[in-house]
Amino acid sequence: MRIDKLLANLGFGSRKEVKKLLKDGAVRVNDAVVKDPKVQVDPNKDLVTLNGETIEYKEFIYLMMNKPPGVLSATEDYAGETVIDLLEMEDQVYEPFPVGRLDKDTEGLLLITNDGQLAHRLLSPKKHVPKTYFAVIDGEVTESDIDAFGRGVTLDDGYETKPGQLKILKSGIRSDIELTITEGKFHQVKRMFEAVGKRVVYLKRISMGSLLLDETLELGEYRELTDEEVEMLRDYQVK
Ligand code: URA
Repeated sequence: MRIDKLLANLGFGSRKEVKKLLKDGAVRVNDAVVKDPKVQVDPNKDLVTLNGETIEYKEFIYLMMNKPPGVLSATEDYAGETVIDLLEMEDQVYEPFPVGRLDKDTEGLLLITNDGQLAHRLLSPKKHVPKTYFAVIDGEVTESDIDAFGRGVTLDDGYETKPGQLKILKSGIRSDIELTITEGKFHQVKRMFEAVGKRVVYLKRISMGSLLLDETLELGEYRELTDEEVEMLRDYQVK
């Protein structure tokens, strides 16, 4: 990759600004000053410094966000704010995208990465990656709902869902539940509850495969996954 492109991609300025840094002798590659913007570097092998500071470059970025309500799980939206808009510029330069979608009003675990292969595997319907949601339901959730979800329910468009595992945490006129599903149909959790005559009033994703929402993240905050979390996701096999 050209040195000017690398530095511009990493957010060190426009191509023009980066050319000026090069011309000023601020950039070294493997300890030799490089002034030519066309010089090719391998960011994974070459040591690049800017004003003596080592430039960190990684091919992939893996972020966990606690998605706030009111923000879209998309990379671009001309009408509203997206989860990508919430990222620092130094993370946006890796051009990450959200892995799957949460509704605008849904909160919780959202994986954001530029690793297309991993995203593809996690989203593949063949992999049946379980996703667990915490929800507040308007209505009393009962054992018969557990049975119905365990068999699979019929959604409004006639689609028969795969079995879902429903756990009642608190039952009453408002119930707290956890639901684990292995599919990702549009509005799936909300529509599964509609299928049993109940309404979701609050929805938050708490896990996806082996990845658990870091509860220390405030809404809208995010952090990089640990190496261990990335490895666990890569190796994730549904048992
Ligand atoms: N199911 C829904 O209904 N909404 C979401 O955002 C995720 C799962």
